[in-house]
Amino acid sequence: MSAAIKKHMSPIWAPGIFEGKVVLCTGGAGSICSTQVAALILLGANASIIGRRKDVTEAKAAELQTLRSGSKVLGISTDVRDYSALVTTVKRTVEELGRLDYVICGAAGNFLATVDNLSVNAFKSVIDIDVLGSYNTVKASLEELKKTRGKIIFVSATLHYTGSPFQAHVSAAKAAIDALSRVLCVELGPYGITSNCIAPGPIAGTEGMARLSRPEVASGAERAIPIQRLGHVHEIADATIYLLSPAGDYVSGDVIVVDGGAWHRQGAS
Ligand code: HXC
Repeated sequence: MSAAIKKHMSPIWAPGIFEGKVVLCTGGAGSICSTQVAALILLGANASIIGRRKDVTEAKAAELQTLRSGSKVLGISTDVRDYSALVTTVKRTVEELGRLDYVICGAAGNFLATVDNLSVNAFKSVIDIDVLGSYNTVKASLEELKKTRGKIIFVSATLHYTGSPFQAHVSAAKAAIDALSRVLCVELGPYGITSNCIAPGPIAGTEGMARLSRPEVASGAERAIPIQRLGHVHEIADATIYLLSPAGDYVSGDVIVVDGGAWHRQGAS
């Protein structure tokens, strides 16, 4: 191996790679996001996780803090639809943890409903949680991210690549999030900030899977996935580590789909 290659080898998953870094994650008590945060903590970061349910969020923060001795994890109860509350949350994160390097926008609403049965307020609720909530989170974090040349990750989906029935609200929301991420890539690149999406497919044991899968669909789900199995939450964490580590420094405005190839057969059984 040439010296030039050795010099530039990206130390993905190297112990302590995120030492001194701070991540703020909305939806951080959920199964996917808490695993993303857990990986970062294990590799040296401190974290602030944001959720609507105070007890659940604080309990998850306490659990995450046990992963690495000396780590600091805040659990803050905030509704991402409330911009001023997010400003306060970011301020508290920086006061208590010292800085802000990474933002993961994972808070999302979801349920199955046909357009016939989806009230205007139900559609608006998901758009507000997913799109406005993601925008609020980035907007409230922006000045801190400029200081650290930080990185943004949105947890998106693949539903909107095709016409997914029962998912008008989430499809519209995730399409908007992908678009938002591309604009942030272009506008914030000159500040050294990257913005990317991770689009999980069917991931075992998540609240999303429980809400979205009718039992008869869930039981046959593996057969419709090219890799023939559901994903694991740690596989979303692995993509997160890739993007946030130096390995991902030159990746921006992109979507990493982690779905075993599932969306290419979306709707097939
Ligand atoms: C139809 C529903 C509904 C349902 C709520 N609503 N649940 N309509 N079917 N199952 C309607 C309500 O009747 C109401 O409309 C409106 O939505 C707002 O409901 P509220 O409960 O008042 O609002 P709120 O608590 O703000 O939000 C509700 C929620 C949210 C959007 C349902 O609590 C939620 O989704 N939580 C789940 C979080 C979650 O699972 N996150 C992981 C997502 S996984 P009316 O007209 O009656 O006022 C994910 C992955 C996507 O996103 C990709 C997967 C492949």
